[in-house]
Formats: sequence, C-alpha cells, structure tokens
Amino acid sequence: MAALNNNKPTTSRLFMIAGLGLLAAGLLFGLTGAWQYLVPGSLKEYLSFERIRPLHVSSVVFWIIFGATGAVLTYLQQYTGKKLYCPLLVKIQLSIFAGSVITILISYTAGIFGGREYWEFHPALAIPIAAGWILFIINFIRSISSFRKQPVYVWMWITGLFFFLFTFIESYLWIFPYFRNSVVNDMTIQWKSYGSMVGAWNMLIYGSSFFLMEKISGNNKYSHAPIAFILYFTGLFNLMFNWGHHIYTLPTYPFIKHISYAVSMTELFIIGRIIWQWRSTVSTARKHFHHTAYRFIVAADIWIFLTLALAIAMSIPAVNVYTHGTHITVAHTMGATIGINSFLLLAIAFDILHDTCTPLSEKNIKWLKRGYATVNISLLIFWISLIAAGVLKARWQMQETPLPFSSMMLMLKPYFIVFFISGSAMATGFFLILYPLLKNQAACYFKYLVNKPGTGQDRLPVQLIVE
Ligand code: HEM
Repeated sequence: MAALNNNKPTTSRLFMIAGLGLLAAGLLFGLTGAWQYLVPGSLKEYLSFERIRPLHVSSVVFWIIFGATGAVLTYLQQYTGKKLYCPLLVKIQLSIFAGSVITILISYTAGIFGGREYWEFHPALAIPIAAGWILFIINFIRSISSFRKQPVYVWMWITGLFFFLFTFIESYLWIFPYFRNSVVNDMTIQWKSYGSMVGAWNMLIYGSSFFLMEKISGNNKYSHAPIAFILYFTGLFNLMFNWGHHIYTLPTYPFIKHISYAVSMTELFIIGRIIWQWRSTVSTARKHFHHTAYRFIVAADIWIFLTLALAIAMSIPAVNVYTHGTHITVAHTMGATIGINSFLLLAIAFDILHDTCTPLSEKNIKWLKRGYATVNISLLIFWISLIAAGVLKARWQMQETPLPFSSMMLMLKPYFIVFFISGSAMATGFFLILYPLLKNQAACYFKYLVNKPGTGQDRLPVQLIVE
C-alpha cells in the first residue's frame, strides 16, 4: 500500500479535473446552440451552429472520456493497493490527450473540419488519441498481476478498454476508398462503430460505479456473484450486437435488423432487474443519502430506467421509422450522456476529489444540494421538450403533402423556448455542483505548491491511497 500526500495533484486526478473543465466548456457551447435554435443565424459570423454543435458535442464526449479514464486509473490503484505499472506513461497519455483536445477545439473555432458527425475534427488528430489509448491499455494490463478470480468491474474495465480502441479505429474505416465507395456498407460500419463505442465507455463507467458502490456499502461480495456476471455478459452482448437500430432505415440485410431487435429485447432483462431492485435501492438510498456520491448514483438509476424505456421503444422498427432524424434521437443521446454518464462520473468525481486539504464548507454543501435538485428537475423538462418537438417533427416528416420546413420550425418554437429555459437552468445547476469541486482543487494545488516536499513545510496530513 502506497502512502501519498493527499494534496498532491496526481495524474489520475488531473484527468478528472480536466474532464470537469471540459464539461463546463461544453455547457456554455450547449447554451449557445440552444439560443441558436431560438434565433437561427445568431453569431453566424464567428460561431455559427455548424461550429457550435461540434464544439459542444466534442467537449462533452471528451468530458466522458477524460472522466472515465481518471476513474479507472484511480480505482485501479485503490483496488490493487499499488501504484500504476508506469506513472510516466499516464503523464504522457494525459499530455497527448490534452494537446489533441485543445487542437480539436481550436480547429473547430477556426472552421477546420474534415471528420464525420460526432468526430468532426480532421482524421489526422485521431492518431494521437488512439496512440494515447494504447498506452492506457499497456499500463492497465501490466498493473493487474493476473486475470484469475478478478471481480466483475475489472472485467468491465478490460472489455471497455479494448472495445473502445477497436470501435474508435473502426469509425475511421471510411478513410479507405474500399469502405467509402459503398454508401450502405459505409453507413452500416459508421453507425455500428458509434453504437458499440458508447457501449465500450459505458463498460468503463459502469465498472467504476460498481467499485464505488462497493466502497460505499462496504460489501465486496456482489462483484464476484453470478448475477453480476450475468448482467455483465448481457451488457457485452448488447455492446456487440444491438447497434442495428441505428441502421433500420438502410437497405441492408434483414437478418442484421432481426438479430439486433432480438438483442435489444434482452435489455428488458436489465430493466426488469432495475425495477426489481428498486425497492431495496430506495431503502438504501435513505441510509446513504447524505453521501453526495450516492445521490448521483440514485439519480443515474432513474435515468437508466427512463433511457432504456425510450431506447427499447426506438428499437421497434415501426417506431424507429418515425423517430429517425428527429429530436427524439437527440433526447435519447442527451438523456443517456447527461442522466447516466455524467451523473455517474460526478458521483465518482465527488468520491475521488472531495477529501482534499479544504473540506467542503456548510455553505458549499447547501448550494451543491440546490444544484443537484435544479439539474434533476430541469433535465426532465429538457428531455420531455425534446421528445415533444421530435413527435411533431416525426408527424411532419410522414405527411403526404408536408408544410414548408420554415412553418414546421415555427410550430416547434414553443418547445425550443422550453428547451432553452430548462437547459439554462440545468447548466446553472451543473455550475453550482462544479464550483466547489474545482475551487477546492485549485486551493489544494496552491497549498501543495507552498508546502511542496523539499521546502521544509510539508506537514500536511498523509493519507493512504487504499482506504
Ligand atoms: C452534461 C451536459 C450535456 C451533455 C453530456 C450533452 C450531450 C449532447 C450530445 C451527445 C449531443 C449530440 C446529440 C445527437 O446528435 O444525437 C448534444 C447536442 C446538443 N446539445 Fe447537449 N449536452 C449537455 C448539455 C446541454 C445543455 C445544457 C444544452 C443547452 C441548453 C445543450 C444543447 C444542445 C444542443 C442545442 C445540441 C444540438 C442538437 C442538434 O443537433 O439539433 N446541451 N448534446
């Protein structure tokens, strides 16, 4: 067990802090985009919607990737009770990732693109990201001494690490003419890779949440139990085969659609399990609700339920024909990335970052609770407004003699107003949550600089990395 000065800004923590910074930037870009829904063409000269959208989406996607990386690196050390195999590799990985993301955001602002939806940056920038990920895999595998008798969360991390690399590379196959020349094949591979990539980062986040829940409950039996592995294999099965609902509208082989529909239905098993566990969750929630990390897990639990319900509905081919290309898809993506991914990562961030040199003050805790309530209520309204706008757009798409596009957009305006107001409330709530976390880290960093070992003043409390 390694002893660490708790104030030292470790690289694993820096991943989480950088992720929180990206979340803050993503919120500001998102708000600007929502404003442009209301006033089309505003800020057109400097930051048009074509630039704001990728700025927002890439910032929040990299928040998820940085946050998940920080979570896995920190919990891996807590699990093994040892430092990582090579701390220098993590430093190199962080420098590569940070350099790439900064270049990506600057290139969007300058109007330089060249990629595809979700990864709209120039494909050359994918090379350092993949290289940094390979360093991550090497460090992880060398840090766990053996594959035998590992708990389910270690398997989830391993699966997530390898599948992310695989699907990330797959999402760039379009650069080769062999794949690009057939539109149907190209689109099939593209959407398959995106669907599975989300499954891969979910494995990293769910595995870390599993570890955190065991830490809070103080009971480590569940991570070796058969039910945990059954759920893991159901998740893995879905990660590999349920992406078919992304391509229902493509004229590809029917068996692909049938298999993926059948696989999507296995998710009913997961949803059933969630409902089954709900009662015990509620009673446990009462017990631990004072714990900030636990609150975010409870909120994510509700959003897993809501997102799965919407996803299962969207997996029905007859429904998918209507929802395709509408705001219902945006509701699905944002519901999942905010309600599940971001809430779970915030739970982990509070666990990793809360016990710094400056404990949260009563005042901070009060505002944090207000932020939590604001985010949850406004997210629900935000999500419903997108679904409602999507239903209207779906009806418009299916009309035999549709109204002009501009009339349809006018019809959606009331929903966009609700979207903007609830989105602003949600962003405010997130800032109330982020402020004490980031302020604390900054305070600690300066304290660390002043008391840096070797200056003769390093008398700050020493904590064990494994608690
Ligand atoms: C944790 C916070 C957030 C996350 C993780 C997030 C995530 C996402 C994702 C993944 C997309 C792409 C959706 C798709 O193409 O299917 C998206 C789009 C978008 N988001 Fe967010 N978002 C967040 C907060 C916000 C906020 C607070 C607003 C502003 C009110 C906002 C406004 C938008 C807009 C306008 C789009 C573009 C939708 C379109 O292309 O029509 N987002 N967001």
